[in-house]
Amino acid sequence: MSRAITRVLLSTSLTLALFLHHSVLVHAIPTDTTAAMASKSGSILKSALNAISQRGSTTDNLNSNACSYPSRPVPGSVNGSASPFWMEKIKHQGKAPFNSDPEGYKVFRNVKDYGAVGDGVHDDTAAINLAITSQNRCGGGTCHSSTVSPAIVYFPQGTYLISAPIIPYYYTQLIGDAKVPPTLLAAPSFDGFAVIDANPYIPAGGGAQYFQATNNFHRSIRNFVIDVRQVPPEKQQGTGIHWQVAQATSLINIVFEMSAAPNTAHQGIWMENGSGGFMGDLVFNGGKFGIWGGNQQFTVRNITVNNAQTGVYSLWNWGWTYQDVKFNNCQIGFDISTGGLTVETQTTGAQTIIDATVTNTPIFIQTSQPSNGSLAGSLVINNAKLTNVPAAVRVASNGAIVLAGTSPLVRTKTIASWVQGNVYKGNSGQAHFTQGNVEAPTKPSMLLDSQGKVVGKAHPQYADHDVEDFVSVRDFGAVGDGVTDDTKALQAVFDKFSSCKIIFLDAGFYVVSSTLTIPAGTRLVGEAWSVIAGKGPAFQNQLKPQVVVRVGERWGQSQQVTEITDVVFTTVGPAAGAIVVEWNVRQPDGVQAGAGMWDTHIRLAGSKGTNLEASTCPQFATGSYDPCYAAFMSLHITPSATGYFEGTWVWLADHDLDLEGEGMITVYAGRGILSESQGPVWMIGTASEHHVIYQYNLVRAKNHYMGLIQTESPYFQPKPAVPTPFRIDPAYHDPKPFEGSASSWALAVKDSQDILIFGAGLYSFFVNYSQDCVKTRDCQTQIATISSSSSNVNVYGLSTVASVYQLSVDGVGVIDQKDNVDGFASTVTVWRSAR
Ligand SMILES: *[C@@H]1O[C@H](CO)[C@@H](O)[C@H](O)[C@H]1NC(C)=O
Ligand SMILES: *[C@@H]1O[C@H](CO)[C@@H](O)[C@H](O)[C@H]1NC(C)=O
Ligand SMILES: *[C@@H]1O[C@H](CO)[C@@H](O)[C@H](O)[C@H]1NC(C)=O
Ligand SMILES: *[C@@H]1O[C@H](CO)[C@@H](O)[C@H](O)[C@H]1NC(C)=O
Ligand SMILES: *[C@@H]1O[C@H](CO)[C@@H](O)[C@H](O)[C@H]1NC(C)=O
Repeated sequence: MSRAITRVLLSTSLTLALFLHHSVLVHAIPTDTTAAMASKSGSILKSALNAISQRGSTTDNLNSNACSYPSRPVPGSVNGSASPFWMEKIKHQGKAPFNSDPEGYKVFRNVKDYGAVGDGVHDDTAAINLAITSQNRCGGGTCHSSTVSPAIVYFPQGTYLISAPIIPYYYTQLIGDAKVPPTLLAAPSFDGFAVIDANPYIPAGGGAQYFQATNNFHRSIRNFVIDVRQVPPEKQQGTGIHWQVAQATSLINIVFEMSAAPNTAHQGIWMENGSGGFMGDLVFNGGKFGIWGGNQQFTVRNITVNNAQTGVYSLWNWGWTYQDVKFNNCQIGFDISTGGLTVETQTTGAQTIIDATVTNTPIFIQTSQPSNGSLAGSLVINNAKLTNVPAAVRVASNGAIVLAGTSPLVRTKTIASWVQGNVYKGNSGQAHFTQGNVEAPTKPSMLLDSQGKVVGKAHPQYADHDVEDFVSVRDFGAVGDGVTDDTKALQAVFDKFSSCKIIFLDAGFYVVSSTLTIPAGTRLVGEAWSVIAGKGPAFQNQLKPQVVVRVGERWGQSQQVTEITDVVFTTVGPAAGAIVVEWNVRQPDGVQAGAGMWDTHIRLAGSKGTNLEASTCPQFATGSYDPCYAAFMSLHITPSATGYFEGTWVWLADHDLDLEGEGMITVYAGRGILSESQGPVWMIGTASEHHVIYQYNLVRAKNHYMGLIQTESPYFQPKPAVPTPFRIDPAYHDPKPFEGSASSWALAVKDSQDILIFGAGLYSFFVNYSQDCVKTRDCQTQIATISSSSSNVNVYGLSTVASVYQLSVDGVGVIDQKDNVDGFASTVTVWRSAR
């Protein structure tokens, strides 16, 4: 946004009764958890029966025409070649209701319908780009963002010969058959920027690009093999993906095949800036670089790099979290540009690495500059297992080995907890520069898998289910046209099918006028981010907040596998009383991450259909607040819930995505994410932005893993100051605003235990829409507060922008950012609670 500001100044968003017998004993059994469920069904039944006796009667959705999930995959469906992925076969009736041609516009596009052949011989480039661009979509350098033309561009099994970049337009998901991922085969003559270029430079455009990097939202690429091995090894054109993106983006399940020749210049992912984002479940074979990256922040989970020269090169960042990284037979695992401590010389601000396995790689981590004696780029290593890795941390400029690795005699080594940067504890503001081991945090076992790593779970795609296992909400009367009240139709589909079918929310904008309950046990799959929006008087009173979408009954034992993917939850304004999503579900015992959301966002205002657009809520409005309330709270995770949230963007818009020029808007949502959960909760690559009172608030919460979390304060604050135009509501545990000209808390933690925050980017870019305070690093005085009553709270890689204090205890500033200047942001490498 803010078109005229220079790169680093750009902010992100810029950034049973009967039912229970049946459903427990017979179904709700996804194939991947069959065994776990079977062994647990006794205890689930018991808790279900308890639930009933506790409640007397159940308000859960009784299902008289019970149907059941197949207890094992449909024959032939695991063996992919026999039958295509369900997504290819399902009836395509997704709609973009706000498109200028709502009836004719196609959301789902199979590249073969646009002339692609997929035989590895025909050049399919033009056909694929036709599938992407047809029907007047947003891109090409003239349109920077739009929500009215979403698309899934689908690739059946096959090999697609590519001679020039595939250019995904705004709001595009490129999805390959998940059973046998298609190959994008770069032709020997391939000469473009990358096989897939998510943000092309306009030829002769003086550096201009299709999209503003920090506003390049809503993109996903899934299930591909990208093979550049035919491109001569010395050519950098052998690049898989140019991924210069921002929030609500993901790369999932992609294999990059590159030359392993000594002179290889191939690279898997190339990214020079942006404000991401999540990527995971990626494999890189060969290449000069697996990932070459510069971006404000990113979360990377489960990548494997084999036989590359450098696994990950890091040009610059304010903070990236790497979870579950594997390097095999590389020369260097992480090569990190460091030492740039001013805005102008920004290099890698914070590299925060958890659960790494490194094998036969001479150097695990190399920093470009030394950090002896003082902060020069924060580095955290937690639980790295090295086998035949002689140098764990090395400095390129002087060859110093800062942390030794293995030796010929001792060929394996585990690094439990090693850091380079400033370490703090409790309410002491004294920085202790540390280049060495620090006490490892105690990680609650419920957050870990059987190998002791933080749990990760890939975005469910149901590749082993056939199309018969799905029901479409449109087939059962939901309209999704942005106008019709779909409350009853959607509720009926959930009530009838939640325990036995995967529910397909065909692309559309579904309006609900009262609380919609998504029962525990539901698998809900959206299409190019189908929208569910709360609208009307039920959601307008901030003194009587009402839930728009309730996932699982609140006080019931909502303990079943529950998965939501590719959906956007929102409101149609005004909606001062809307709690957009209330999350009550609990994973079954023994099924880690059994209740979660992937690539599912809460996105408020700033898009067609929300009635909270630039015309109603311009940047400098003079009237009352009333028309511009977007929500009371975005996400509430209740005490008995568990949750796995991956790539969840909780965004109150700062600009209108459908306005030419991306003009700013001023809208109001009270609260971001409130968690009272006892855990386990995993927040992997989540963000919460622009809410008035706080972005993340943990109250009496336990057992949370959060990495990386990213926030921004509202740009208008402190005019009005917190909590205006809301009020502090004790019933919802609102934290007390800090003294002075108060802006939102990015993070508040109260009376909580066993909280591991592994990477945080908490940003404040404005005072009353002015960015002058960025230069003086004081847009607000405080930004994160942890109560002294909380215990075993560990924060690693905390990068803040323009908050005088980076961390407070009991609302009193403790860590002064001056002591941790690390480029544009200031970085605390470790803070741990006093108890
Ligand atoms: C993105 O980064 C590249 C390389 O550092 C730079 O040339 C380009 O100007 C940047 N683009 C924007 C929009 O900041
Ligand atoms: C898939 O089916 C083919 C042909 O029936 C068979 O040859 C192959 O072994 C099967 N693969 C798997 C993984 O079952
Ligand atoms: C990690 O990614 C690989 C490759 O996509 C996949 O096979 C594996 O199941 C993933 N592991 C987890 C824990 O998600
Ligand atoms: C840092 O340490 C290395 C050796 O470990 C030394 O060569 C270098 O001069 C030191 N740099 C500074 C700035 O102290
Ligand atoms: C905030 O800034 C705008 C634009 O500069 C200005 O018009 C307005 O008066 C300011 N508001 C206050 C309360 O300072």
